[in-house]
Amino acid sequence: MGDDTRAQRKTENGRSMTANKKLLILPGDGIGPEVMDQVVRVVDWYGKERAVKFDLDEGRVGGAAIEAEGTPLSDATFAKAEAADAVLFGAVGGPKWDTNSFDMKPERGLLRLRKDLGLFANLRPAICFDALAESSSLKTELVAGLDIMIVRELTGGVYFGEPRGIEDLSDGTRRAVDTQVYTTPEIERIARVAFDLARKRGNLVHSAEKSNVMHTGVLWREVVQKVHDEEFPDVELHHILADNCSMQLVRNPKQFDVIVTDNLFGDILSDVGAMLTGSLGNLPSASLGAFDEATGKRHALYEPVHGSAPDIAGQGIANPIASLLSFAMALRYSFDLGEDADLLETAIGNVLASGMRTADIMPANNPKVAKVSTGGMGDTILRELGKLAG
Ligand code: IPM
Ligand code: MG
Repeated sequence: MGDDTRAQRKTENGRSMTANKKLLILPGDGIGPEVMDQVVRVVDWYGKERAVKFDLDEGRVGGAAIEAEGTPLSDATFAKAEAADAVLFGAVGGPKWDTNSFDMKPERGLLRLRKDLGLFANLRPAICFDALAESSSLKTELVAGLDIMIVRELTGGVYFGEPRGIEDLSDGTRRAVDTQVYTTPEIERIARVAFDLARKRGNLVHSAEKSNVMHTGVLWREVVQKVHDEEFPDVELHHILADNCSMQLVRNPKQFDVIVTDNLFGDILSDVGAMLTGSLGNLPSASLGAFDEATGKRHALYEPVHGSAPDIAGQGIANPIASLLSFAMALRYSFDLGEDADLLETAIGNVLASGMRTADIMPANNPKVAKVSTGGMGDTILRELGKLAG
């Protein structure tokens, strides 16, 4: 009773201080809905206990949308995403839709959101929690304390370049084409995001491309260097070939601070970066659009780096941490609530330190850790949040 009153008072305060923030939840497929359930619980907790109030809406995306609405992302759901202050995304895809035509694949829903909301900057932190350093496939000393930010260009390159497609040739064989294409402004704006972030971190940027074989790589290198020289001469910049970058990531990951790279290399390098930390199940991401001076807003989508994991879906064993950390990124990057983001990140770090593990991060023979379900991990994190917030 006493607690309720306190919670209500804080909520009232929150409401009078700031307008409600609009969040659109898109759980998607596979383990998406299970992990997003835990996110909704934490969002509710913030609404009750902190001076920040969210209006939650929900929509379908991916396979779930194909089944119910006949398309991986309906115009109505896209309109909701466009109107939201931030989109919290689960995961899309599954074997059921693997043989679908290109436009009817679940992934098209995600790619349309990225492209049509203009989410060109994908931030993928690879941070190794101390408690999990032993879960990495690399030696503990190589990954303990690791803190890398991969900045992936997300709306250009070979993911969207034209022409693209598969054609039938007259001799009965077929020919497939994808086009890798980048323009100067596309490279400039992603470079600025990377240099800006580096200034707030270790002041070091590695720019990864394949300028030894690709024209896009040559232009990428030139433009990144120019943006550096003209606007960020104080930041240390290294150019690195993308294949060497992947090798260096597993050889000596702590040499990196910020890595900026294109859409396809970023897809691959961020999976490597993720696995350094022990589990894909822990890694969040933020996809950000350009800042609109008129409204003071920018479109943003937050999603775990892991996919829909259909093999474990529906069993209640998925790790909700990547999704919860994605919500923490939303607090930080969309709502400028750094302290609230810190709170959630600290709660998660403490819960891991206390020995709670979902199946994916469960070490083989360690009597000091306990296995919990998806909901069990949510319960423990909520309890820890309550404790920390006092
Ligand atoms: C990612 C995923 C996506 C991508 C898929 C689901 C389209 O692998 O976000 O890394 O390739 O970008
Ligand atoms: Mg990927």
